[in-house]
Amino acid sequence: MTTEDASPQLTWTEEGEPRSGRFGDVYFSRDDGLAETRAVFLQGCGLPEAWAGRRSFTVAELGFGTGLNIAALLDLWRRTRPQEGRLHVFSIEGFPLSAQEAGRALANWPEVGEAASALIQAWPAPTPGFHRIDLPEHHAVLDLAVGDAAWALEAWWGQADAWFLDGFSPALNPGMWSPQVLDLIQARSAPGARVATFTVAGAVRRGLAERGFVVDKRPGHGRKRERLEARLPGRATPQIPARGSRSSARAWRGPRPRGRWRRQASSRW
Ligand SMILES: C[S@@+](CC[C@H](N)C(=O)[O-])C[C@H]1O[C@@H](n2cnc3c(N)ncnc32)[C@H](O)[C@@H]1O
Repeated sequence: MTTEDASPQLTWTEEGEPRSGRFGDVYFSRDDGLAETRAVFLQGCGLPEAWAGRRSFTVAELGFGTGLNIAALLDLWRRTRPQEGRLHVFSIEGFPLSAQEAGRALANWPEVGEAASALIQAWPAPTPGFHRIDLPEHHAVLDLAVGDAAWALEAWWGQADAWFLDGFSPALNPGMWSPQVLDLIQARSAPGARVATFTVAGAVRRGLAERGFVVDKRPGHGRKRERLEARLPGRATPQIPARGSRSSARAWRGPRPRGRWRRQASSRW
C-alpha cells in the first residue's frame, strides 16, 4: 500500500468535524463524539470496573482514526487505574490521518486534552507496520498497526480484554466486519473479553454469537437507538501480585507483533 493509496481523503464538515471521503462517513457522532465514545466504548466494555484488580489490561481497537477513543480511554485509565496497573492498547488504522489533522479534530475536546496531546506528540509516520508509542505519563503503551485490519490482527499475538469495534458502518466498510476479522477477534480474545460497538447490524450480532460471544443490544447514545455489547464466557484472572513477588514483569508491556515495528518515543520504564 503506498501512502497515496492509504489516504483517508479527509474533508471537514461545516461544524469542523472530519469526514472520510474514502468511506463517505464521519469519524464520530455529530452530537458529541466524546460522550458517544464514553457511552459506546468505555461503558460498553464495562470500564473502569473491568480493570479493577488487574496489573495489566489490554484494549484492542479496530479503527484508530483521530485517536479520540484512545484519548478518552487513556484519560479514564489515568484517573481510575489500579495501583501499579499498566495499560496496553493495540489499535489498527489502514488510512492514517496526519498529526495535524488529528490535532484539529481532537481540539474539540479539551476535557481529554492531556491524553490527546500525548498522542499527537508521538503520532507515528503513516508507514505500514507496527509502531510502538510509549505513554509513561499515562502508564500505558500503544501499539498502532498501520495497515489492513485482517493483516494486523493476524500479525498480533496479544489477547484483548476489551475490544472497541469502530470501523465505519458495515454497509460502507465491510472489510472491518468480515468473517475473517471476526474469527481473528475471537482468536485474540482473553477469557471473559468484552466487545463494544455502535452497530447492531444483524451480521455483526450473528457473527459474534456464532463465535461464542454472548451478545446484548443496549440503549444507544444520542440519536442512535441501540448499541452492542458482547462478552466471551470465562473470567479474567486478577493479577495484582503480592508485594515482592516475582510476577511476570513483561506481561503488561504487551506482546510484540511478528511484523516490523518501530518505537516512537523513548520509554522511561
Ligand atoms: C469510525 S472511524 C474510527 C474512529 C476512531 N476510533 C476515532 O476515535 O476517531 C473508522 C476507521 O477505520 C479505518 N478503516 C476502515 N477500514 C479499514 C481496514 N480494512 N483496515 C484498517 N483500518 C480501516 C478508517 O480509516 C477509519 O479511520
